[in-house]
Amino acid sequence: MSAPHIILTAGPTIEPIDPVRFLSNHSSGRQGFALADALAQRGAQVTLVSGPVGLPTPGGVTRVDVQTAIEMRDAVMAALPADAFIGVAAVADWRPAVRHTAKLKGEKAELTRLELVENPDILKEVARLDASRRPALVVGFAAETAPGPDELEKLARAKLERKGCDLIIANDVSGDVMGGEENSVLIVSRETSRSLPRAGKGVIAAHLGDSVMALLHTPSRG
Ligand code: CTP
Repeated sequence: MSAPHIILTAGPTIEPIDPVRFLSNHSSGRQGFALADALAQRGAQVTLVSGPVGLPTPGGVTRVDVQTAIEMRDAVMAALPADAFIGVAAVADWRPAVRHTAKLKGEKAELTRLELVENPDILKEVARLDASRRPALVVGFAAETAPGPDELEKLARAKLERKGCDLIIANDVSGDVMGGEENSVLIVSRETSRSLPRAGKGVIAAHLGDSVMALLHTPSRG
């Protein structure tokens, strides 16, 4: 088999309010970049569509920088076809309905009633592409504050169905995972679930890289 093409999203998106203000989140991009690196090291051809982060591009990875969720969606669609899509980005679910071209001034009356509109759900859109364009393996991440592992699995499986993807990598974000160095994850498919012990994001990325590459070399996945 020739090198599989894998598209990943990573980091936050930022959604401008005006030229100096935006809505965003604390995603550092570390997990997505570590996974892109692990996959490239395992021989994949990797396209990394990244929101604004302060991280170097891993060796051998093609990087596309974007700012907003719409730009991220468009960059992902432009990078198809692919054998796998992995959504690691913390995409802002909402964006301001109006992007002011001039800086909001004075008493900021506008900011007391900021109207928001929903952003595209990139993972769901990729998972629901028609068979000719859909990557064979579509993987999402889920950040959950679950009271225990059973609840985490239940939430992950519900998200798997809702998004229409093949795997969910569920994070328990009760601690300081967003922006932190360590992560503990549960890998959930329709039939199985496997937990990885709490470890650095590099170690987690290596395990996930192995799992993804193994699934891409197995005709029936689950
Ligand atoms: N995702 C995406 N586009 C969005 C929102 C999310 O591609 N507009 C992807 C993320 O990259 C991730 C997964 O979907 O792979 C996360 O799903 P989401 O529903 O946002 O889950 P949480 O962030 O965990 O939040 P919630 O459960 O509150 O919906």
